[in-house]
Amino acid sequence: MFITLEGGEGAGKSTQMRLLAESLMAEGYRVVTTREPGGSAGAEAVRHVLLSGAAEDFGVRMEAILFAAARGDHVEQLIRPSVEAGSVVLCDRFIDSTRVYQGVTGNLDPAFIDVLERIAVNGMIPDLTIVIDVPANIGLERAATRAAGGVNSCGTSSPDRFEKETVNIHEKRREAFLELADRMAPRCRVVSGAQTNDMVARDVLDLVRSVLEARSSSMTGQAPTS
Ligand code: TYD
Repeated sequence: MFITLEGGEGAGKSTQMRLLAESLMAEGYRVVTTREPGGSAGAEAVRHVLLSGAAEDFGVRMEAILFAAARGDHVEQLIRPSVEAGSVVLCDRFIDSTRVYQGVTGNLDPAFIDVLERIAVNGMIPDLTIVIDVPANIGLERAATRAAGGVNSCGTSSPDRFEKETVNIHEKRREAFLELADRMAPRCRVVSGAQTNDMVARDVLDLVRSVLEARSSSMTGQAPTS
């Protein structure tokens, strides 16, 4: 089982991933948590190049190629072997982030992204993608508070390459995630992130349980009970 969490800056994905992992482990599942860009040795090396902004001058196509290269390594080194070994893999961001960040707000041709995606994931499409939706201003405030209280994703206290962009761009991404979720249903489902962490966690767990139950009943040949 492969589950991805998606959303804009400050949507609360990492908190929700931790809470979901704890709930699933308490139910006896083996869980692997990971994130993009990164998650494997090769991909972590590329992560720094992307988030520091070092690749920005080469343009959005090159950035997309680097995200795809990191993803290919991550899939083959960690995600596929863990899923095949029977773990539930939870990943913070995956293919839908490329569609939104490089595709919609980077204006990259969808056909180009399709090709990169096919090569990078090589069939490893998520069983469930949860989009955590928050208005851009709330998300950016949360991301700023997080950066002020410690280090960001590049290991510094200033905003990373993507957090620096304007609120309009973040709002455009929010809309793009919602449209994508609609287009990619039932793989993609939306949960409101503008509620307490406990309430978001309950909605996330309900979705995951429904997919796990549907999957186990399809394996045993029974109809799902809900
Ligand atoms: P990070 O701080 O790790 O994630 P988050 O914002 O989820 O806390 O930063 C990752 C950044 O990389 C984030 O701004 C989104 C961006 N990104 C892309 O532009 N394309 C991608 O394919 C992925 C996976 C991430």
